[in-house]
Order: sequence, then structure tokens, then C-alpha cells
Amino acid sequence: MNHYFTNNENLKSEFRTINFSYKSTPFAFLSDNGVFSKNEIDYGSLALLNTFLDREKEGKVLDVGCGYGFLGIVISKINNCEVLMIDVNKRAVHLTDMNIDSNKVNAKALVSDAYEKVEGKYDLIITNPPIRAGKNKVLEILLGASEHLVDNGRLYYVIRKDQGAKSISKILEETYEVELLKKDKGFYVYLAQKR
Ligand SMILES: C[S@@+](CC[C@H](N)C(=O)[O-])C[C@H]1O[C@@H](n2cnc3c(N)ncnc32)[C@H](O)[C@@H]1O
Repeated sequence: MNHYFTNNENLKSEFRTINFSYKSTPFAFLSDNGVFSKNEIDYGSLALLNTFLDREKEGKVLDVGCGYGFLGIVISKINNCEVLMIDVNKRAVHLTDMNIDSNKVNAKALVSDAYEKVEGKYDLIITNPPIRAGKNKVLEILLGASEHLVDNGRLYYVIRKDQGAKSISKILEETYEVELLKKDKGFYVYLAQKR
């Protein structure tokens, strides 16, 4: 079975462009078959982005599971900050590279299984984690963030209520101070601060 995170080089490309505006700043995202939410910005990602940008105005950012680059690219442009975007899906990272260029932001994209290729520490980590990759992978991404955050670093994530938002967040409480920031159409947006 092909999930959106599977590397399937035989999957035919059908490029499309998704237009998006944050307040009055326009963005265009090239998307394709075989990537998450290929036809429109995911509502959970949008809720996460808005919550993040209402609170954070600066800092070096890591976007984990970047897809075609929506979160990291908008954050990089709006906060004028450096962003690293990673995804295990090569097609997604290739799209992110093209979207970094076309949207003219100070960002970089890498193919990486979770934090495998990530060096250094970040002030902020943001993720709409790959629930379909399974709970173990989601926990690897969410718990592993603490190793890549500076002291006082903050992790922002979104999970649907019916996809285990509360039980996953409970597990995170051993590692982080966890706060539910927003509930929007069944999407729960959380902030996790390193203890
Ligand atoms: C829910 S999507 C979010 C995509 C994008 N951030 C957005 O908001 O549109 C989760 C992403 O995680 C990626 N992913 C799945 N398994 C991964 C892994 N082991 N390491 C890194 N990324 C992974 C998927 O390919 C997918 O792009």
C-alpha cells in the first residue's frame, strides 16, 4: 500500500500549484501526487501555523515532516528566520526545494527519517506528525524533538482529537510541560516546553 510518505518513484507526476496568503503576504506551493494534502493546505496545518505565528516572532526553526514545505516556508518569510525542513519522502523534499526558491526564503530542505540527518539545536520545532506512520514513529518525532531543542526550546504540534491527541500528549508530559493551545474543528494544537 502506498502512503503519502512512501518513496514511490514510479508514481506519475501531476504538478499543481496551491496559492495561499498569510494576512496579505502571498505564497505559491508546487504540489504533486504522492505527497500529503496534495490539493489544498491541510486544515490542521493551518491551525498550527496560525497559533505558532501568533506567539513566535523569531528564532531558528526546524519543520519535521515538511511535505511540500508549507509550514517552514511561511514561517521563514513571515518571521524572517532561518528554517530547516526535513521529510522522509524524497518527492516532498524536492517540492520543498523548488518552493523555497520560488517563494524566496532563507530555508533548506533535507531527506531525513525523523532526526537522522539533523545536526545542531533549534529554538523552535514545528510538526504536523505523520499519524499514518504509526504511534511509535509519531512518538519518535515528538519525544526526539527534545534532543534538538535548545534549553527553553519549544515544540509545537497538531493532532486530531480522534487520532489520539490526548493520549499522545499524556506520554509527552514526562519530557515536556505540555499545554493545549487551541481546539479547532477537532484539531488540537499543543505547545511542549522542555522541562
Ligand atoms: C501530516 S504530513 C504534514 C506535511 C506538511 N508539514 C504539511 O503541513 O502539509 C506528515 C509528513 O511527515 C512525513 N513523514 C512520514 N514519516 C516520516 C519520517 N519517518 N521522518 C520524517 N518525515 C516523515 C510525511 O512524508 C509527511 O510529509
